[in-house]
Amino acid sequence: MSLAETSAPNLILTGFMGTGKSALGKYIAQLWDFEFADTDKIIQSETGRTIPEIFATDGEAAFRELEKKCVAEWLPPARAVIATGGGIVTIPGMAELLRKRGIVVTLFASPEEILRRTNIAKNRPLLETDGDPLERISTLLAAREQAYMNAGINVLTDRRSLHQLAQIVARIYKNASARNRERARRAG
Ligand code: S3P
Repeated sequence: MSLAETSAPNLILTGFMGTGKSALGKYIAQLWDFEFADTDKIIQSETGRTIPEIFATDGEAAFRELEKKCVAEWLPPARAVIATGGGIVTIPGMAELLRKRGIVVTLFASPEEILRRTNIAKNRPLLETDGDPLERISTLLAAREQAYMNAGINVLTDRRSLHQLAQIVARIYKNASARNRERARRAG
């Protein structure tokens, strides 16, 4: 299959805040000539509200409901690289739902690297703390680790350039889409 096919499956990037989903997603989308989409942005444009506003007014559970709706109804059908919000994998049944929407890759980074990256781009209600930010990241990351590992094929981003990561992800994507096609062929 060539990446130019219009039916090429979506590439879905999951992972903790600051693991590089948006930066790598945009880079790959440009390289493959895919659309780039981001669940946070889709939710913002569908609701007309920012993520911090939704958290502050309605709380995290309401935001997770919007994420569920976003994955079920608002994603591009194919040929898109989709960066998901960092907590989406904590929603029960979400890993299976994501896998129906595309090939899922989970990005990992060390807490130190996450702190460095999220300090540059703020606006994350769940990382706001009066305590030690590194501890906050480590605790949340540990609580979610299993969900991230189960969600998709795991890639560590520390000390890897966008170019290197794009090559790794392209290999994963090609192998996974070939496997999916073979499975669909066998199923008739
Ligand atoms: C969240 C991650 C954020 C955003 C929201 C909650 C989380 O997305 O969806 O602030 O629970 O980890 P990014 O991973 O794009 O920062």
